Amino acid sequence: MNVTDTYEGTIERELFSAEEIAQAIARLAVRIAQDYCRRPVLLLGVLKGALYVAADLARALGGQPDGPSESAVDYLCVSSYGNASRSSGEVRLLKDATEPVTGRHVLLIEDIIDNGLTLGYLRALLGERQPASLRSCVLFDKPYHRLVDVPVEYGGLRVPDAFVVGYGLDYQEVFRNLPYLAQLRPEVFTDR
Ligand code: IMP
Repeated sequence: MNVTDTYEGTIERELFSAEEIAQAIARLAVRIAQDYCRRPVLLLGVLKGALYVAADLARALGGQPDGPSESAVDYLCVSSYGNASRSSGEVRLLKDATEPVTGRHVLLIEDIIDNGLTLGYLRALLGERQPASLRSCVLFDKPYHRLVDVPVEYGGLRVPDAFVVGYGLDYQEVFRNLPYLAQLRPEVFTDR
């Protein structure tokens, strides 16, 4: 029994396959490598959702001939959704990065941007620490309900105006290990 069988009956439709996600990450890696050419970069993944995209992007960058001279990988952890499928609008820092940020080229890596509050909060927080540069890479984009105008220098795939799961994204801590991005059946949501 594989992970897809485990979740059978809960998935409405697949939005992006594992292969399409891998291709999107490869495209992002090419662009990022060109821009950070032979400079060291600190990749800062935002847990928990970005655990896969940060890991896969770090490996994809390693395969770029003229990419960053070195890539350090670190994570911080925020909570913005609680257990609901709607954003609470409140962003809380649950665990800070352990790597120093001051004077370094920092690339924030997020799974998805929706209203933009999480990324806005993190950019403000890290910006205060005076990095040499600060950019954001976000794999999935839901541009329909932005509350803040926050820069995303490296954007990936646009998703429909729906709650999505898989490839790191959860609903009530479940579905993160689904290898593709999916929309859930409405009856799965218990917080509606
Ligand atoms: P924002 O603050 O509304 O931009 O949301 C960013 C965070 O909310 C992401 O890092 C995710 O953890 C979470 N999020 C936003 N949309 C979804 C979704 O469709 N599924 C799962 N998590 C989501």
